[in-house]
Amino acid sequence: MDPEGFWGDIAGHFYWRKRWDKVLEWNFRDPKVEWFIGGRLNITENCLDRHLGSLGNKPAIIWEPNDPEEHHRVLTYRELHTKVVQFANVLKNNGVQKGDRVCLYMGMVPELAIAVLACARIGAIHSVIFGGFSAQSIADRLMDAQAEYVITCDGAYRGNKEIPLKSVIDDALVQCRFVKRVIVLTRTRTPVSMIKGRDVWWEDEIKKVETMGNPDCPAEEMDSEDPLFILYTSGSTGKPKGVVHTCAGYMVYTNYTFVNTFQYEPGDIHFCTADIGWITGHSYIVYGPLSAGATTLLFEGIPTWPDAGRFWEVVDKYKVNVLYTAPTAIRSLMGFGLGPLQGKQLSSLKVLGTVGEPINEEAWHWYNENIGKGRCPIVDTWWQTETGGVLISNMAGVTPAKPSYATLPMPGVQPVLVDENGKEITGNNVSGNLCIRFPWPSIIRTTYGDHERCRTNYFSAYENMYFTGDGCYRDEEGNYRITGRVDDVLNVSGHRIGTAEVENAINMHAGVVESAVVGYPHDIKGQGIYCFVIFQGSHGDENLNRQDITQTVSRIIGPIAKPDKIQFVPGLPKTRSGKIMRRILRKIAEGELENLGDTSTLLDPAVVDEIKKGRL
Ligand code: PRX
Repeated sequence: MDPEGFWGDIAGHFYWRKRWDKVLEWNFRDPKVEWFIGGRLNITENCLDRHLGSLGNKPAIIWEPNDPEEHHRVLTYRELHTKVVQFANVLKNNGVQKGDRVCLYMGMVPELAIAVLACARIGAIHSVIFGGFSAQSIADRLMDAQAEYVITCDGAYRGNKEIPLKSVIDDALVQCRFVKRVIVLTRTRTPVSMIKGRDVWWEDEIKKVETMGNPDCPAEEMDSEDPLFILYTSGSTGKPKGVVHTCAGYMVYTNYTFVNTFQYEPGDIHFCTADIGWITGHSYIVYGPLSAGATTLLFEGIPTWPDAGRFWEVVDKYKVNVLYTAPTAIRSLMGFGLGPLQGKQLSSLKVLGTVGEPINEEAWHWYNENIGKGRCPIVDTWWQTETGGVLISNMAGVTPAKPSYATLPMPGVQPVLVDENGKEITGNNVSGNLCIRFPWPSIIRTTYGDHERCRTNYFSAYENMYFTGDGCYRDEEGNYRITGRVDDVLNVSGHRIGTAEVENAINMHAGVVESAVVGYPHDIKGQGIYCFVIFQGSHGDENLNRQDITQTVSRIIGPIAKPDKIQFVPGLPKTRSGKIMRRILRKIAEGELENLGDTSTLLDPAVVDEIKKGRL
């Protein structure tokens, strides 16, 4: 195997201002990973400019609005290029320079993709924040990234809800006086307060560029290893960390995995239902498809509004060929039965995909039979924010699928299973912690502003390996099945949430003495959030207290981290040294009340019985 030769050949298919001198230098000790060293490029020239000759009139983005009655939009490659250049000039006019961090907090509108690409065009580092995060979470991220520029919308539509994005930003900015400029796109016409000297309208800024005669905006020449974006994600400790991806490696890997995993064929309409606020949206709505000259479908709404047939309606409307979604969405739609599928053809579909969490066999078969009609390969793609692109997956129609298995690694990717002591587990029919032995082009480069954190999180647990945080089983044939996180990270509806983060938020509530948060199996969300809380004084109305705690979590982290269950307890099971024994709490939350394992080291074993009695 010669990964360097392999990736060097692949990289040759892109447009470089200057070819690289050396394909790879790396060590996992520091860690230091550099791909395509000395290369100069701009990812937007690869996503836009180089397609203009042959694909200029081809749809790059199809946008389906939240409300099916509203007109959809199609942006050809030429139109997208024009808009990106225009907005890149807006950014420049507003003082944004190469290397500056720009935070994007927007709904799923084409302008989000335009803003992302405009940042990349001028070499600014974008950091997209999902619309489900609170003002406090935004403030934390703005401070960590020292982002002086924010792009947002007045509001966003999601089903029958309207989310006041600008107002959330205003709350965040109370703590972030260093933000110099907020550019606000009109979407919902929700009333907003525009602060003089700080806030400007997207539309006004575009007009200014138009009166300048729409000048060109040549792409900034970037080094292969210049940062492209920061994306915050939760870990087992502390605040979310800013995962940094760089220009060349990320481009090469997302393009390669897009084309190969989904077996992209020119003309295919690719529908990835993720939000651009997550890595899946970055890699397989924006950069992967556009770098391949594909047509990517951007959907503003949700699968269940105005009814649970919305995805299928969108598939038929645009003759979607590839549908890529999360097991949570499949399970939730399964719950509506086959009614919403009536009258839907789904005959354009060729390939189905899943991502973000383990898929149970029942959901896999439902997807296969009712959506793929048994004729569309399903790719179960395992990867992470930190990996940038798909690492383990079957390739549609090329390598076989196996329900609930991600199956085999992508070329050049070397998975390893290790035991608790870091010893490699060889052979088949074995389980262990999943590590990767050799770098691939879009591996995380650092955690923004804190390289040591990157090292300790991913590269210190096992020598010379990247540790994924996932548990994994390898079957008789060498297929990989991801069994879930082995650290204190939950996967709720395919969203990563750190238990420590939720605990910190709960503990902010004035009445809370202490809390412990664990996951439990949830029929639709995959995992639910179960909170054990010691509450001070008389409980009064327990339900009101629960609501207050939920509200607190919503304020501190955002609606996506709302607890599913809150149980008030007299104490938590702790060892004599004061460590909470989560293993016991996890079992209780899962409903496994017998066989709690060794409880003899507990300071107060009686508390376990109390907790068992009060289980929700
Ligand atoms: O536990 C794994 C799970 O999602 C985690 C990564 O989450 P995030 O960084 O938010 O990225 C999600 C989208 C790539 C992993 O550590 N996960 C992701 N894909 C799968 C999965 N678990 C099982 N099967 C998958 N296909």
